[in-house]
Amino acid sequence: MIAPTPGDLAAMEASLIMLGEGYRGMAAELFATFIAAHPHHAAAFMNPEAAQERMTRETLEAMLGLAAGEAWVAPAVTNFVDLHRNYGTFSGHDYETWLALVIAAMEQRAGKVWLGEWRGAWERQAARLTRLVAEELAHEWAHKSSV
Ligand code: HEM
Repeated sequence: MIAPTPGDLAAMEASLIMLGEGYRGMAAELFATFIAAHPHHAAAFMNPEAAQERMTRETLEAMLGLAAGEAWVAPAVTNFVDLHRNYGTFSGHDYETWLALVIAAMEQRAGKVWLGEWRGAWERQAARLTRLVAEELAHEWAHKSSV
């Protein structure tokens, strides 16, 4: 059961509206920053141009979905964690870093129009998403060690 947090959802939606055109090019920039900090993962990306946009959008959607209490988020997390098994071994910390970078990129790109309280709303949902990912990774490892 995913509990909605309407205050966070409203703040997150407002922040996306204010980010507006600032979103353009964010996925490519994020990806470059992420790979610069994790060069050992570069080889896992065979088609980065396609992946970076989908990864960024689906990350934002998952956090918005959590804030809205949407039931689809849990199976979506199962699916993307499972999908990533095809590409490599990624830790909970890798996901956590990615989420932090997504939030920092939005804040930096929005600039002066970004309100201080918006970061907290995104960070609370990022923490929830990180917990779901960690649970999923734990299932995955339990499964691997039992086969
Ligand atoms: C909440 C976080 C994330 C979400 C929602 C997400 C989502 C996705 C999706 C939907 C794709 C498929 C892209 C496509 O087929 O076009 C993908 C690909 C991929 N993701 Fe993620 N991702 C996340 C975090 C991460 C992290 C932390 C890593 C660590 C390096 C990672 C590594 C990859 C790789 C290697 C691919 C394959 C790209 C390729 O074929 O070039 N992802 N991701």
